Amino acid sequence: MPKQPFDRVTRQHELRGRYVLLRLSVNVPIKEGVVTNQFRILRSLPTLQFLVRQGARVIACGHIGRDGSESIQPVADIFAQYVPVAVSPEVSGTVSKNMRDELQDGEVLFLENLRKDPREKKNDSNFARELADFADIYVNDAFAASHRPHASLVGVPKFLPSYVGMNFVHEYEELLKARKPEHPALFMLGGSKFETKMPLIEKFLDVYDHVFVGGALANDLLKAKGYEVGKSLVSDIDLSDSSLLQHPALVLPIDVTVASKGESRVCAVDDVKSNEMIMDVGPKTVALLAGLMNRAKMVLWNGPFGNYEQGFDAQTVSTAKILAGAPGYSIVGGGDTVASIEALCCQEHYSFLSTAGGAMLTFLEEGTLPAIEALQDAPQKKAGS
Ligand code: 3PG
Repeated sequence: MPKQPFDRVTRQHELRGRYVLLRLSVNVPIKEGVVTNQFRILRSLPTLQFLVRQGARVIACGHIGRDGSESIQPVADIFAQYVPVAVSPEVSGTVSKNMRDELQDGEVLFLENLRKDPREKKNDSNFARELADFADIYVNDAFAASHRPHASLVGVPKFLPSYVGMNFVHEYEELLKARKPEHPALFMLGGSKFETKMPLIEKFLDVYDHVFVGGALANDLLKAKGYEVGKSLVSDIDLSDSSLLQHPALVLPIDVTVASKGESRVCAVDDVKSNEMIMDVGPKTVALLAGLMNRAKMVLWNGPFGNYEQGFDAQTVSTAKILAGAPGYSIVGGGDTVASIEALCCQEHYSFLSTAGGAMLTFLEEGTLPAIEALQDAPQKKAGS
């Protein structure tokens, strides 16, 4: 295996008494102060438990939500069931500094939601410095956030010897496999935002034997092919002259679930009416995918095929069940896709469930992420050690 572009914290032996700033990916759904999905938390536990066992003094941090309004407390409460945890009411600042000074070997201090400080998203170097000043070394175990060029991800490694945690390595190694799949290989992509996903679709049409595009993404392609898409969600992009439409590896829905005035029905893609909205793919499409899934040596899937928020999850759930029984290697990511798989309780039937959504797509396309690049600039590398 080629040399990895990072050092693993699990290969460090002298961690007792050392202050470790641990960046986690714990952006989980919280309703009325209660975490409703622990998947990312449970995947973060091994590295945290490793550091605690080694006697490190851990300053853990992560973001929740977009705008910084939510508290990290419900997340910390879950970690507290496994390791000794205190929670600071602030991100950086004197209270956090004093609490950090009181840490004993094997104890954990959670900083408040990083996004409460607007300097996090701006990658402000003073903020990165304040975070770095808490610790002797930095550990990134937040693969799922590593596409964001934020202070805790790309700023801090400039100031501290930097490593990655176990979840990070696991994500990296699995997604590397997905970039060079065994054939025949099937890539299934759902969700929305065609503009951001188009480069990956174009790239993977030449890497995978079949690339199925579902979800709102498919509306753009169906429209470009001249089908009526009614009132369906479409992006501004004009694909009518795109060579992508003719690519032999491209697979599109053959039937769809449409809704209008509170009623829904399944119809062929050429039977959508101008007053209808495509909300999901249809069962014949899933049957078509079943054949491809059952023959594939690698199935890679990101993003749901229907409008989840409005309850159109039936075909995503059917697909998840079929994939659970498929014989090939399966890698699945993207928040809502993973949520449907967890709801089915069939996680162990997949080869790998990624904690990442956007970071997974960026990594698949680029083979790297801003936070991976930042690790190259960490002081231990500069010193050549
Ligand atoms: C995550 O936690 O899933 C990623 O960091 C994406 O979250 P964001 O889009 O709010 O950055």
